[in-house]
Amino acid sequence: MNISSIKGFADLYPEQSELYTHMENLARNVFSRFGYAELRTPIVEYTDLFCRSIGTETDVVQKEMYSFPDRKNRSLTLRPEATAGVMRSYIQSKQGADAVHKYFTYGPMFRYERPQKGRMRQFHQLNCECLGSSSAHTDAELIVMLMHFLSELEVGSIELQINTLGCSQCRPQYRNKLTSYLHELDSSKLCADCLRRVDINPLRVLDCKIPTCKELTENAPRIDENVCPECAKHFDVVLNLLDSAKLAYVRNARLVRGLDYYSRTTFEVVSHAVGSQSSIAGGGRYDGLVKQLGGSDVPGLGFACGMERLAMLMKKPESKRPFFHVVHMGDDALQVAFAVSLQLRRHGYCGDMAHNPSSFKSQMRQADKANARFVLILGEDECKSQSVAVKNMDDGQQEIVKIIELVSFLDKFSL
Ligand code: HAM
Repeated sequence: MNISSIKGFADLYPEQSELYTHMENLARNVFSRFGYAELRTPIVEYTDLFCRSIGTETDVVQKEMYSFPDRKNRSLTLRPEATAGVMRSYIQSKQGADAVHKYFTYGPMFRYERPQKGRMRQFHQLNCECLGSSSAHTDAELIVMLMHFLSELEVGSIELQINTLGCSQCRPQYRNKLTSYLHELDSSKLCADCLRRVDINPLRVLDCKIPTCKELTENAPRIDENVCPECAKHFDVVLNLLDSAKLAYVRNARLVRGLDYYSRTTFEVVSHAVGSQSSIAGGGRYDGLVKQLGGSDVPGLGFACGMERLAMLMKKPESKRPFFHVVHMGDDALQVAFAVSLQLRRHGYCGDMAHNPSSFKSQMRQADKANARFVLILGEDECKSQSVAVKNMDDGQQEIVKIIELVSFLDKFSL
């Protein structure tokens, strides 16, 4: 029996990989303009790191982690997101708390969710984290940068949704108010998950996608109207800065996010062109997180984009066309083809040669398929005269060129 890939884990074939490479390169380009430096953290961390940061009552920690004991029976987990690892790395490397540190990271994440369009068990994120600033300007800068990246990626029509979740001072009061409101509802109409959340994580009830839950909680107290004056002011400044940057957004008071570390500004970018999994990016501020994980009291904020979802939306980048393709007939020609191909690649040209012996016609068919700019033809006559027939596939012109002059001949076309 053949071994297949694991459910929810996909191969990225070359055409797909090209999209990911383009996203990574563009992300590196845009984010570095804003001062983000690349950080690569391990894919596996101690399970405790995710429990303590994401929160033990979240779906991610409760149902979705790939956790396993190592040989010494320590519980390890394949990272379900990047933020926790970046925080661990920041704390461990003892960065100065007085400076602002900006990190860009990307790669595979793992969540045991039910796979569907745009939702995989191994998926990829582009992730930015900024540590050391509590200024509302940093929130606005981060959001503008994300939207700028998405616009350069040409992902079509998207919507930025934004909310504030208050801080550790004002959220507990809101939470109590919401819990009292939820207790007064006809709980038999809430779904089983919401019923469980009423007392342990009531904010998540606001995020439930089930229509009856949404309807029942329609008049729930709004968090953005129940935060402390400092949080309200912070949010106001962020919104004003987005206005001044001419960035459109929709205020969504029910946007609470699925991870427990958020405070103040939270946001998501949605696209209705990717199906039910419409969130293509999400993030926010997490001011207490570094301290909660044992570091100093450093504020932070960040976001992650889902690359599988972006891949569905973005324009396909133009593939790089090979510059040459060598066809050859006979043993001597094969030796020359091998040497010529290596020489051209060393010089910086990209291309290939026919690898398996086949008829001239079939090699020309392969060359056509390769869509190379030049086909280099080597037969007995060419070998004898130490030359090669160079066919320009754009205009069909063919010229005999001495092998010794081949590079300088081709250089004329490569500008
Ligand atoms: P998140 O909302 O859980 O946030 O994930 C961010 C993005 O990852 C989502 O908007 C979605 O595009 C993508 N995503 C999540 N799960 C899947 C999946 N199973 N399959 C495909 N794509 C998926 C975070 O992960 C936070 N760490 C973001 C953050 C960074 N907040 C602050 N800093």
